[in-house]
Amino acid sequence: MIKKAIIPAAGLGTRMLPLTKSQPKEMLPLGDKPCIQYIVEELASVGVNQILIITGQMKRSIEDHFDSNLELNQKLSSSGQKDLFERLEFENMNIQFFYTRQSNPLGLGDAVRHGKSFINGEPFIIALGDSVIYSSEREPLLKRMLDWHKNHPDSFVVGTRHVHMDMVQRYGIVKPRKKLEENILEIDDVIEKPSPRVAPSNLAFAARYIMPPDIMDALERVAPGTGGEIHLTDAIRILLKEGIRGYSISLTENEKRYDIGTMISYYEAFVDFALADERYGYQLKQYIIRKLDL
Ligand code: UTP
Repeated sequence: MIKKAIIPAAGLGTRMLPLTKSQPKEMLPLGDKPCIQYIVEELASVGVNQILIITGQMKRSIEDHFDSNLELNQKLSSSGQKDLFERLEFENMNIQFFYTRQSNPLGLGDAVRHGKSFINGEPFIIALGDSVIYSSEREPLLKRMLDWHKNHPDSFVVGTRHVHMDMVQRYGIVKPRKKLEENILEIDDVIEKPSPRVAPSNLAFAARYIMPPDIMDALERVAPGTGGEIHLTDAIRILLKEGIRGYSISLTENEKRYDIGTMISYYEAFVDFALADERYGYQLKQYIIRKLDL
């Protein structure tokens, strides 16, 4: 059973400026919760109970969010504001949080490398701090990835999704070796941000990974790429070259990856989550209908 996960959340979020000048991108709201809370809840739902969050400058509010504010709790419960008190129920998740700082954000691979002593030689999950996986499947993506990993314990497993061919240069892309089942492939190779001309497929990484501990040593051996960044994709490539098997499990049509890395993807995600809000979604929908004169 995998119990540990790393959430890289130390990036500068430059594409989201000025929103991210003094607050973490990962704390931006999606409906009534910050983005990173959905990710922690997703991890808790599959049995993870130790999470290392990689933070950096201006990221302190992440730690405050997952800490209990005793004064606030006391005030809400003693004043009988049960509804508001219940919104803090996530504080009771069975999760132990750890934090470490990546002072110089030198890429996703470098962020993950900061978790070497935390994972202590065990396989672990990586869940990107700015990406939420919505799923209405009985077994959501991460659960399917873990089940597959259980039967292939020395391998790595990546979550993937199909993107438009003209978008491949924004993602790590999988070169499939063979199809094993519906939505499950064995991986031949992975390529970081290929141009559409040379991309081996349109199957892009979808922000969730299960990695063997060997990835840490592979990360030490990766040469820095553009902008001096250490790419996780390059380390995954080393694993494949060294004979570690890799599998890709894709999102189904009942699942969607939301990433809040650009303004437009953030706006779209916010609208979907706000419309899905149990308390206010209906009112918001009526407002939009009136506004757009539909
Ligand atoms: P991104 O590359 O999308 O985030 O990383 P970024 O670097 O913050 O974005 P821009 O380009 O400046 O706008 C995906 C996730 O990995 C984390 C980010 O915080 C984000 O949650 N990350 C990225 C790190 O933890 N460290 C890094 O060096 C880079």
